[in-house]
Amino acid sequence: MTRSGSDIEKRIYLDFNASSPLVPEVVEAMQPFLAEHYGNPSCDHWAGTSARSAVERARSQVAGLLGCSPEEIVLTSGGSESNNQALKGAFFASRHKGEHIVASAVEHPAVLKPLEFLERLGAKVTLVPVDRQGRVDPESVRRALTPRTILVSVMHANNEVGTVQPISEISAIARRAGALMHTDAAQTVGKIPTRVDDLGVDLLSVAGHKLHGPKGIGALYVRRGTKIEPLVHGAGHEQGRRAGTENALLAVGLGAACEVAARWLGMPTLRALRDRFEQELKALLGDTISVNGAEAERLPNTSSVNFVGQVGADVLARLAGVAASTGSACHAGSVEISPVLAAMGVAPREAMGAVRFSLGRTTTWEDLQAVLAMLGERGSVHGNALEEHWERIHRARTEAASACQQRRSSTSVDLILGAGVGRDARVIDIGGGASRLADALLDRGFERVTVLDIASTALERAKRRTGARAGMVTWVAADVTTWAPRSSFDVWHDRAVFHFLVRKEDRQAYRAAMKAALKIGAQAVIGTIAAGGPDRCSGLPVIRYEPASLASELGPDFRLVESVHEDHLTRAGTTQRFQFSRFLRV
Ligand SMILES: Cc1ncc(COP(=O)(O)O)c(C=O)c1O
Repeated sequence: MTRSGSDIEKRIYLDFNASSPLVPEVVEAMQPFLAEHYGNPSCDHWAGTSARSAVERARSQVAGLLGCSPEEIVLTSGGSESNNQALKGAFFASRHKGEHIVASAVEHPAVLKPLEFLERLGAKVTLVPVDRQGRVDPESVRRALTPRTILVSVMHANNEVGTVQPISEISAIARRAGALMHTDAAQTVGKIPTRVDDLGVDLLSVAGHKLHGPKGIGALYVRRGTKIEPLVHGAGHEQGRRAGTENALLAVGLGAACEVAARWLGMPTLRALRDRFEQELKALLGDTISVNGAEAERLPNTSSVNFVGQVGADVLARLAGVAASTGSACHAGSVEISPVLAAMGVAPREAMGAVRFSLGRTTTWEDLQAVLAMLGERGSVHGNALEEHWERIHRARTEAASACQQRRSSTSVDLILGAGVGRDARVIDIGGGASRLADALLDRGFERVTVLDIASTALERAKRRTGARAGMVTWVAADVTTWAPRSSFDVWHDRAVFHFLVRKEDRQAYRAAMKAALKIGAQAVIGTIAAGGPDRCSGLPVIRYEPASLASELGPDFRLVESVHEDHLTRAGTTQRFQFSRFLRV
């Protein structure tokens, strides 16, 4: 597969925890309600009954996903209202029993702010801490309970980090103590199972737009028999629990989203994509990143990454066309350390660089690969960092293990000879520090061989290996994109260096260096490219080329004349197919 630089600039949406697009099934279900079904669901005539049956069907679809009965669902305007209704409603209905509420320190503002409000009305609130992974210890909830505790509210999963809380254990403790149990499940409904009986909750909040439903609608599950005071008083809508004419358009959207979500639960594909993304990021940036909540049970789609020592907003600014968040989505752009990460005890130097990537149904590996390539562009794998990367690779492996396992260096030698050059030809092997082409050329009597590599460790080893003959080779330790050649060459042998140049500027700089070095009588360019295979090589993102696309990178001065395949053994013991292409000057 070939990718051009412009692909990297395409729009990539990785902010599904902030909001998610309507899926086609939802759009289709909503369409007739924009114009045709305008009746008031409370009216008994034909216009009202068709709207009412749509609202009731939607209620059943929501109930189906939560495993409750439709009468236990109150339609609201979204996650924030559901949380407000649950907390304030429970407090107002139970204040004669007590005024103490327990919640976690990592709740969404849609829980923390209503709690602050209730404190002004006399509530006593205890926020239980979380551990380094963002987990609430059920024991700390037990310790926080008092005889006056009326409500425990712990979110099902955190919106920033994705940590999933042990809700069933916490609810068992709360309910045994006679307190109501609420969970803000805005981030879990539609992503992981959220059956109310499994969770053991009395109240559960749903936000439509987080599960590919419309914005402005949500639901509150209220277990049968649970007493909560309504916030909006009026006519008897929603069984007297929330006044206001139901919005059939949004309700059918939410219902359809819940039905679709039931088929999608668990997100196994997304989990695999997320895990691969994190592994590759680690391979690319090493200790300069850390992943929040990596050791906890997490939402399958969420990756909260700290770019250590950087500011999250700066990292995002470099990711052109990528929609992701620093800190909470509701405070995008803020460089303040997120209260969630602070509560987890993440060091400020790490937390400042936090970026949340949240994947969704339309996310592809290509999207994530493009992000990896962009993250690899600056500071981390270029200039000194690129040198450090290859030095690290070479130092970590023995010479034998790091030598490119080309089975026959004669493939390259044959192509070089096929270019019609004699043994006095000036040949340069770019990125050839760990290859044995120099040895093979010396064996054939070539006398003017240059090996260029960014890692001096690889060159030192090659020098030691070639022993007395090392003096016959010119060894150049340099980054080829910034290298100013002092002599010209007849044959330029590229050892897949092009693959690593994901930035257009680097490819241009490389081409300029090559042109300058080939200026006198140069005959051929031999390009080694990996055919197919993984999207990364030695921990770096790569661009895949076909011989034809490499030809277009080389420009009009060179014409593709021949391509041969050779299988190399990889370190993992598998076979990687390489393609050697010979380009002649036109
Ligand atoms: C955990 C959590 N709760 C509540 C909300 C608020 O939901 P809504 O936007 O529907 O009001 C959000 C949205 O960011 C959330 O992530």
